[in-house]
Amino acid sequence: MNEMTTLSYQQHAYSAAAQKSLSRKPALFINGEWVASSHGELIDVEDPSSGKVVSQIVDASVADTDRAVAAARAAFDDGRWSGLPPIAREKIMLRLADLIEAHAEEFAELEAIDNGKPKTMAGAIDVPGAVSHIRYMAGFAAKVGGETTPPYTLPAGAFFTYTVKEPVGVCAQIVPWNFPLLMACLKVGPALAAGCTIILKPAEQTSLTALRLADLIAEAGIPAGVVNVITGYGHVSGDRLVKHPDVDKVAFTGSTEIGKLINKNATDTLKHVTLELGGKSPVVVMPDVDVAEAAPGAAGAIFFNSGQVCVAGSRLYAHRSVFDQVVEGIANTASFWAPRPSLDPAAHMGPLVSQEQFDRVMGYIEAGKRDGASVAMGGDAPSADGYYVNPTMLVNVNPQMSVVREEIFGPVVVAQRFDDLDEVVKEANNTQFGLAASVWTKDASTLHKLASRIKAGTVWANCHAMIDVALPFGGYKESGVGREQGRAGIEAYLETKSVIMKL
Ligand code: NAI
Ligand code: MG
Repeated sequence: MNEMTTLSYQQHAYSAAAQKSLSRKPALFINGEWVASSHGELIDVEDPSSGKVVSQIVDASVADTDRAVAAARAAFDDGRWSGLPPIAREKIMLRLADLIEAHAEEFAELEAIDNGKPKTMAGAIDVPGAVSHIRYMAGFAAKVGGETTPPYTLPAGAFFTYTVKEPVGVCAQIVPWNFPLLMACLKVGPALAAGCTIILKPAEQTSLTALRLADLIAEAGIPAGVVNVITGYGHVSGDRLVKHPDVDKVAFTGSTEIGKLINKNATDTLKHVTLELGGKSPVVVMPDVDVAEAAPGAAGAIFFNSGQVCVAGSRLYAHRSVFDQVVEGIANTASFWAPRPSLDPAAHMGPLVSQEQFDRVMGYIEAGKRDGASVAMGGDAPSADGYYVNPTMLVNVNPQMSVVREEIFGPVVVAQRFDDLDEVVKEANNTQFGLAASVWTKDASTLHKLASRIKAGTVWANCHAMIDVALPFGGYKESGVGREQGRAGIEAYLETKSVIMKL
């Protein structure tokens, strides 16, 4: 504990490159140009490590949003992108990936200042991940196509039948604040490879890297209007995108609550919808594990990115025979995960993204205590400017408590015991969500049983949150609709057309 109270919460100095981004004139990227908003409304940008306002961005109006959609529509309809030879699209996308990579240091710092995540983490995870999404999807530009499918009821010799894949069209891509650049590239990559045009709307809390990305999109040679970046609040510009008749698809990552609203709002214009939503992912620790490996693994599953991860391992189920050891092993990681300012090279965990998120997470911890949970680790926040919350573990919890049922989106894990496989499968599935799970065991048979019985889009074994762009990612139940990444990821940006020719 002493070690934690002597930490410094003073944010470190910004580099010249970061200061340049912070002092850029607030503008929207529409039709290849930086333009002012129709109304002069701005949104403050905070550094969560200090709580200070460090920049401002535009709050795009409905008129601004319409302008961005019109640009994307025109760019789609004249085929300036989809009409290029696929090799040209692939080359430009690879150039974009190279440019992001060349600015890795700058992106990592901007993300750390904007979101609060440690710069070291942004540099190790977010930026290389963003590059991989663009690079991997670039390869699909030339490699997805239809089939010459023989007919079934029609006479084969009298008809020639085939399918073609075509881009869905104008795509609205609405991303959250927890992995801003990574989520932007995860969305932009497949849409570009498919030949779509885009209006990207980053989260109002974290738009800096998306704006910098727009510079590189232009530099890479992506034609004007193909990718437009508008910043602003979800209920204004986001809502307009979702309802706009000229938008063909909405891809959203964020809360389940807003995901449901978007699904409803997209109905009148029957848009294609991809939703990556919340989770309450279980971490199941079987009795045969090496606790020295599993306990830090379970700690990382929840404390990475301050628990602001859709796949955060927020419900721990440890077998009764190892429960106490696992809880102790996690508690022992407290000083490793103690929150520090995002530019501190020693930081493994930063502050939460905002005052709103801080209040929400502290509110859940208080609710858990009121409901009778005991604090086995943390449970409090250091007194500091900025939105720091200490890594927290609650025990003596039950399945009715809000801390067990709801997505907290902070560094808070609830730990429960179990006795047998059927019991833990039932509890793991006792949730509205179905995004991910991890199971920790050396026994291959147990592993396969759990992998098949847990209802989740991704199941990890002896690791957690290992994401690979080649593997489809998405949720069961209320964790989402559709898949991103892998071949499924590009298919979500394609229409299939059947051509039936009478010879
Ligand atoms: P949110 O779901 O409201 O925001 C995500 C994105 O959606 C942002 O770009 C926002 O501007 C946009 N948006 C908001 N309302 C919209 C609307 N009516 N139409 C179109 N776009 C809209 O998430 P928020 O409010 O920042 O966080 C609240 C909670 O959501 C968090 O505490 C966390 O539990 C959850 N969350 C989950 C994420 C995940 O990856 N699973 C990511 C972010 C938040
Ligand atoms: Mg919201």
